[in-house]
This record gives sequence, structure tokens and C-alpha cells, in this order.
Amino acid sequence: MTSQVDYDFSLSNKVAVITGGASGIGAAIAAAYAAKGATVVVLDKALDAAQQMVSQGSAAAAIGCDVTSEQSVAKAVSAVNKQFSRIDVLVNSAGIAVTGAAEELTLEDWDQTMAINLRGAFLVSQHVGRVMLAQGAGTVITLASQAATIALPGHVAYCASKFGVVGLTKVLALEWAGRGVTANTISPTVVMTPLAKELWDNPEGEALKAQIPTGRFAEPEEIAAVAVFLASDAAKMINGVDLLVDGGYTIR
Ligand SMILES: NC(=O)c1ccc[n+]([C@@H]2O[C@H](COP(=O)([O-])OP(=O)(O)OC[C@H]3O[C@@H](n4cnc5c(N)ncnc54)[C@H](O)[C@@H]3O)[C@@H](O)[C@H]2O)c1
Repeated sequence: MTSQVDYDFSLSNKVAVITGGASGIGAAIAAAYAAKGATVVVLDKALDAAQQMVSQGSAAAAIGCDVTSEQSVAKAVSAVNKQFSRIDVLVNSAGIAVTGAAEELTLEDWDQTMAINLRGAFLVSQHVGRVMLAQGAGTVITLASQAATIALPGHVAYCASKFGVVGLTKVLALEWAGRGVTANTISPTVVMTPLAKELWDNPEGEALKAQIPTGRFAEPEEIAAVAVFLASDAAKMINGVDLLVDGGYTIR
């Protein structure tokens, strides 16, 4: 593996499963993967929106799936494997952000955040990971956040869940790489998707933006560009990394 690197980062002949692929960052990754030649399957709770990804050419198939439910995940992963015979790339993008002061956050909000962001990433990684380990190849990419490196006020559950997915990913990276399966996280700063608009489209958002060395938030396509690289064969030596796409927000 010296001169064999594909600097075009082609994803042709790869089957990619993207949870939360019906909106925001997941949708941008789906479109980018499809443009790079991958066969994309969107798994999302929002089936109608996922099906729109198929009609607009960003996905080959859409499956309704609740990542918090083992039954739902097992059924979806088995359907993908049956239809496409393999899974080369998993992107865990399904996630929510519920905010509230630590002393006031309800247990319900805590549990829901953990169920989707952490348990969901684990469940899908476990089920897809079994397919990848059986074929001896694959890569798992999970959306963490800058909130997996630094504390954000009002984000006690979100930060805990995102620090959690970084830990989860490092263990997958350690246990699976010897069998051909790598795992990494991507950690964006704010990206103005439906998830972020509610939280950051306000004076607090402007104040946060002013502290980002590049002076702006990230675009979904900039996260997709990183996800293309990590899914490509050129990134096979990258394992257990938390790749920050935060304009330098966390360096100080
Ligand atoms: N937008 C940001 O500023 C930002 C920054 C850092 C990290 N992230 C992370 O990136 C990921 C994607 O965020 P986004 O901004 O694109 O969000 P989004 O709200 O635009 O999209 C999230 C998608 O996940 C789906 N989803 C939610 N619960 C689900 C469940 N139980 N099962 C299956 N699908 C479910 C939704 O239907 C939606 O399509 C999240 O993990 C988020 O924490 C986002």
C-alpha cells in the first residue's frame, strides 16, 4: 500500500448506509456520496423525507428506521444486506440536541438524547459492524460534535452523548481494525441545519460565531467533504480519530 492511493476519493462500488440521511448533514453526505458513485441507503425515522432523497437522486433506497429500537435497526440492516449484499460505509448522523440548564433538564430529555445520540449510534454500529466484520472490510463514521471536546452551556445531555460517541468509536477502532473495519468521528462546529437553527439562529449564535477563528459556522457540504474522504480507500489508515471541522473553535 504505497503508490496505490486514489486521490480522487472515488466511492464507486461502495454501499453506504446513512442514518439521519433525510435531513441536514446526513442529507448532504448522502448527496456527496451519490455524486462520488456510492450506492446510498438512507435510514431515517422520517420516511417521507428519506424517500425524497431517492426521488432527487441522492439515494438508491430509503428505509424507515428508529435507531433507538434494536428491532427496527436489525430489520433495516438485514433489508440493506439482503438487497445490496454488502455494507462498506456506515454514517451515524441521526441525532438530536435538547438543551437546558443542568439543574433543570428533565430526565426525559436526558434519556431521549442518550437513546438517539449514543444508544442509536451503538446499535446501528453493532448491527452494521457484524456485516462488515463478516466481509472483512468497512468503515464506521459517526457525527460527534465540537461538544465532544469542550463544554457548551445548556448542553449537558448533548455533550455527554457526544463525548460518549467518541469513546464508543475509539473502542470500535481498537477492536475491529485488525479485522478490516475502521471507525472515526467527525466533529463539526455549528452547521445551520434544522437541528441547529432553533439553538443558534439568535444573538447567542452570533456571539459563538465571533469566537470561531474562521469567523463563521460550517456548511453541510463542508462536513460532507470530510465524510467523502473518510469513506474513501485513501483514508484506510485513519482509525479512532475525532476529526474536528470547527474553524478552530476548540483550539483555545
Ligand atoms: N447541525 C449542527 O450544528 C451539528 C453540529 C455538530 C454535530 N451535529 C451532529 O450531526 C448530526 C446530524 O445533525 P443535523 O444538524 O443534520 O440534524 P437534522 O435535525 O437536520 O437531521 C437529523 C436527522 O436524524 C433523524 N432522526 C432523529 N431521530 C431519529 C431516530 N430515532 N431514528 C432515526 N432517525 C432519526 C431525523 O429525522 C433527521 O432526518 C447529529 O448527530 C448532530 O448531533 C450537528
